[in-house]
Amino acid sequence: MSVPVPTYNGIPAVGLGCWMGQPGASEEAYHMVREALKIGYRHIDTAFGYENEEAVGRAIRDSGVLRSEIFVTTKLPNQAHHRVVEGFENSFKNLDIGYIDLYLMHWPCAADDSGRQLSPKEGRDFVEVWEDMENLLETHAGKVKRIGVSNFSITLLEVLLPQVKVVPAVNQVEVNPYHPQIPLKKYCESKGIQIVAYGPLGQTRRTFLEDHEVVAVANKYGISPAQVCLSWAVQRKTIPIPKSSNPERLKQNITLVTLAEEDFDRIENLHKEPGKHRSSDGMTLKVPGSVWGWTMQEMGW
Ligand code: A2P
Repeated sequence: MSVPVPTYNGIPAVGLGCWMGQPGASEEAYHMVREALKIGYRHIDTAFGYENEEAVGRAIRDSGVLRSEIFVTTKLPNQAHHRVVEGFENSFKNLDIGYIDLYLMHWPCAADDSGRQLSPKEGRDFVEVWEDMENLLETHAGKVKRIGVSNFSITLLEVLLPQVKVVPAVNQVEVNPYHPQIPLKKYCESKGIQIVAYGPLGQTRRTFLEDHEVVAVANKYGISPAQVCLSWAVQRKTIPIPKSSNPERLKQNITLVTLAEEDFDRIENLHKEPGKHRSSDGMTLKVPGSVWGWTMQEMGW
């Protein structure tokens, strides 16, 4: 039997991720957001870097759903680390929805105007960027409700947190059954930072959806492997933001079950099996051909 989507720290516990696998794809994003709002999604996640804020905002305005019922996140691009106000105002204007619920620093590292990733020495210190985001809360009160970070490891949070006036509301990182981020999750929980999970279905690296344990749990409940992963994510108090352009899968992704403890534990412990710890985020892996030519560790992050 499906259970209603809860709210964690004032945020609907399943969101719609609007990274379309490539920048732009605005018309597809528009239709996806319209459909999602129609079937009950109330949390939409986008970013300046996705190049679809305008379409996402238009879909929200056209939806007929009250603005106050929708939680909307967007993100500061790496190219704007040294001009936070301008970065925010660009997103604010693109979305054109009155206010932004949550504004995230997309990555701890800056990039130059061509998108080239800057080393910690070349780019602006993320603590200073965070200070500008804190100031934004004061100078743009009413336009932005909360601020947070994305792709921050424990190491980086340990640098940031002793220096903040405002604790980040959220750390958005990649989380899935093969990359459950257990230490980071525990750390964030201890600091009152909500984890939002991107790539909860593995983006394009989705082997865990075919994992025999996941499939076995799915068969037991008569649901899909994706629903197992998303139910697990919500049950462990993270907020997954799956993307789907397909109306049937969109519906699946907010139709969750409560897993029995033994089944929850099977998924929670999956990453301990040999070969099942896959991590694909910029924090830990090289992404060939992308701007992320180096791992965060190699960069000294
Ligand atoms: P599609 O948009 O065709 O549904 P993530 O959210 O981890 O980034 O993963 C997104 C990918 O997962 C997309 O390729 C999306 O494709 C696919 N996807 C979304 N929902 C489901 C689902 N319920 N079952 C299988 N694949 C899904």
